[in-house]
Amino acid sequence: MPALPTTDSNPLLVAAIAAQIAQSPQQRISFAEFMDRVLYHPQHGYYATNQVNIGAQGDFFTSPHLGSDFGELLAVQFAQMWELLDRPQPFTLLEMGAGQGLLVQDMIRYLHRHEHDCFEAIDYLIIERSPALISEQQRRLAPLMRSWQPRWSTWEEVPSESIVGCCFSNELVDAFPVHQIIVRDGQLQEIYVTWAENQFREEIGELSTPKLSTYFDLVGVDLASHPDSYRTEVNLAALDWLQTVSDRLRRGYLLTIDYGYPADRYYAPFRREGTLQCYYQHQHHSDPYILVGRQDLTAHVDFTALQRQGEKCGLRSIGFTQQGLFLMALGLGDRINALSDPTATSSIAELLHRREVLHSLINPMGLGNFGVLVQSKGLSAEQQERSLRGLTY
Ligand SMILES: C[S@@+](CC[C@H](N)C(=O)[O-])C[C@H]1O[C@@H](n2cnc3c(N)ncnc32)[C@H](O)[C@@H]1O
Repeated sequence: MPALPTTDSNPLLVAAIAAQIAQSPQQRISFAEFMDRVLYHPQHGYYATNQVNIGAQGDFFTSPHLGSDFGELLAVQFAQMWELLDRPQPFTLLEMGAGQGLLVQDMIRYLHRHEHDCFEAIDYLIIERSPALISEQQRRLAPLMRSWQPRWSTWEEVPSESIVGCCFSNELVDAFPVHQIIVRDGQLQEIYVTWAENQFREEIGELSTPKLSTYFDLVGVDLASHPDSYRTEVNLAALDWLQTVSDRLRRGYLLTIDYGYPADRYYAPFRREGTLQCYYQHQHHSDPYILVGRQDLTAHVDFTALQRQGEKCGLRSIGFTQQGLFLMALGLGDRINALSDPTATSSIAELLHRREVLHSLINPMGLGNFGVLVQSKGLSAEQQERSLRGLTY
């Protein structure tokens, strides 16, 4: 792996965070505050600038970057949800963290062509934190928007209990800022970030909020019994997010696709360094203090926390599976089989490329191993009986 440039941070962002640290009590901020600034500082954060670089030429890619299949198969699931909810009008699809707008584009084209009644019922709402990505989404969707209108909104603008439909995200929760926790002498302590001698440094201190210890009660893990120096992450933002989604959803589903594990695997004693990862031009490493503002930071998702917090907020877990199985149940296998059709007119090179793409989406060593969690709220007893097609494998 080529060496990563160590000095190439965004100096304006570094200065802004250093100033925030200087003004904070004890001249330190939690790692979660640091990560929040690095990714979402309104002017200089990774997701706030035009440098956000997702895709083959960028820092990382997601399933929608592999072509339209992922979006189309999700659209199959949404069309079935619309039927299962007894064809509501409107049927709201709320996409959270829409990135470059690829997923919405692929889904809407598919629904328009193949599920026209469902398409006509759709009210498409996007909640996106990055202004730069909102602009990119609007640019990408401009041709579709001549005859179809999605809406961009903030949570404050969405009334409580107003959504009938499905709220969904792909690789959103891993982009939330996380607290970093370390075990010291059988106690949970927290990692803080300080600024000294022109560089970011870490300091260990008391937990910044009791929510961090109650989190481990929620997920049923005795972290304090782990070996000394065991270090990991806690995504409190995900718990708040679930509360918000549940508040806005009246009847329907929450679909979350992301990489991660249930809590017993996430916090397994052998995972001593946690799951924080930094992505820069498709290389990954674990130093968040280099390339500040130029690299993406992510942490795996604890799906047990999403399920248990969901239950506390009125969201019933109806299925947890893997992306590979989910997409196969939605018809990806048929797409692979169609490649062997002797009447196909594509060139060998096209067929091989397409085969590679479809296999990547279900690869158990990669995207296929992502978690897919489906939760529901407000369904009648009869609606609850009906199985979702994506969960039938
Ligand atoms: C890793 S990208 C994934 C983008 C897209 N879903 C995809 O699969 O390509 C994370 C996305 O979530 C957005 N995001 C992060 N935090 C958010 C929040 N609290 N509310 C809405 N969007 C958020 C980011 O700006 C970005 O668009």
